[in-house]
Amino acid sequence: MLGMDVVPILKNNHKVVVTDKEELDVTDPQAVYNVMVSCNFDWVVHMAALTDLDWCEDNVAEVIKVNTLGSKNIAKACAKIGCRLIYISTSGVFSGNKEIPYTEIDLPAPINVYGLSKYLGEIAVSSLIEEEKWLILRVGWLFGGGERDKKFVGKILQKIKRGPKVFCVNDFQGSPNYSVDMGHLINTMIDKDLYGLFHVANSGEPASRYDMAIAIRDFLHSNTVIKPVSSDKFPTKALRPKMEAIVSLRIDEYGIKLRNWRDALGEYVKRLAET
Ligand SMILES: NC(=O)c1ccc[n+]([C@@H]2O[C@H](COP(=O)([O-])OP(=O)(O)OC[C@H]3O[C@@H](n4cnc5c(N)ncnc54)[C@H](OP(=O)(O)O)[C@@H]3O)[C@@H](O)[C@H]2O)c1
Repeated sequence: MLGMDVVPILKNNHKVVVTDKEELDVTDPQAVYNVMVSCNFDWVVHMAALTDLDWCEDNVAEVIKVNTLGSKNIAKACAKIGCRLIYISTSGVFSGNKEIPYTEIDLPAPINVYGLSKYLGEIAVSSLIEEEKWLILRVGWLFGGGERDKKFVGKILQKIKRGPKVFCVNDFQGSPNYSVDMGHLINTMIDKDLYGLFHVANSGEPASRYDMAIAIRDFLHSNTVIKPVSSDKFPTKALRPKMEAIVSLRIDEYGIKLRNWRDALGEYVKRLAET
């Protein structure tokens, strides 16, 4: 999903080599190293991961192999050839016990296998690469991807269109995050040569899935009724943090501000309606 929107934006300003699992499996250290050497990258944007939280709970070894050890393979190869690495991490590294959004100085305490695997990936990246050459972006609840969107916004939009009633969980909070805005942000961060750990998400108040569904319904001018429900009504294999919203203590000082998530979501809904 993220790659679908980030890659075309990066291609406007950079020469980009894109790989998917078929061209490069990140669990193969030699293959990772060979690609790095042959392409002589200045920057690597590492977005590969196993991302289905519930599936991850039952497949711990595979998840650690891809999300953690795959990231380690990439970090090692970057360190060897001296190129910069952007690692896309997640607001899901936190426990969710906090009442207000998490900042970069809060300590991760993952409560599911996916969150743990991504946090261990962060540790691999930050420990294997010299300080000024890694950039870890903890991103919020992503939406985007266009016609290949199989995640929350893509699914809920179809349900709202079908109507007449849609149930949405309202007791988990996150920071909605448009993948197109992530593409522009990554571009800017590369231009500005930034490094270190950043929380990045669209601005605006924390949102629940219910809040997002209401916004989508309103953008569609639909009459579908959106009903708030507690997460108890939709038990999932993986625990989710109750509070997953993030803010950055650092990003303002570089003159970077992402637009409000409602504006970004409105643009995305319009884009989906046109495809
Ligand atoms: N979605 C979110 O809300 C969210 C939030 C925070 C952070 N993130 C992070 O953002 C990044 C992109 O997420 P996304 O939502 O775009 O997920 P996605 O659509 O599932 O994309 C992940 C990609 O990784 C590929 N992949 C899986 N195993 C691989 C392997 N062994 N080697 C190479 N590639 C492999 C997948 O290929 P296949 O499709 O062929 O399996 C897929 O193309 C991930 O690092 C994720 O952890 C996502």
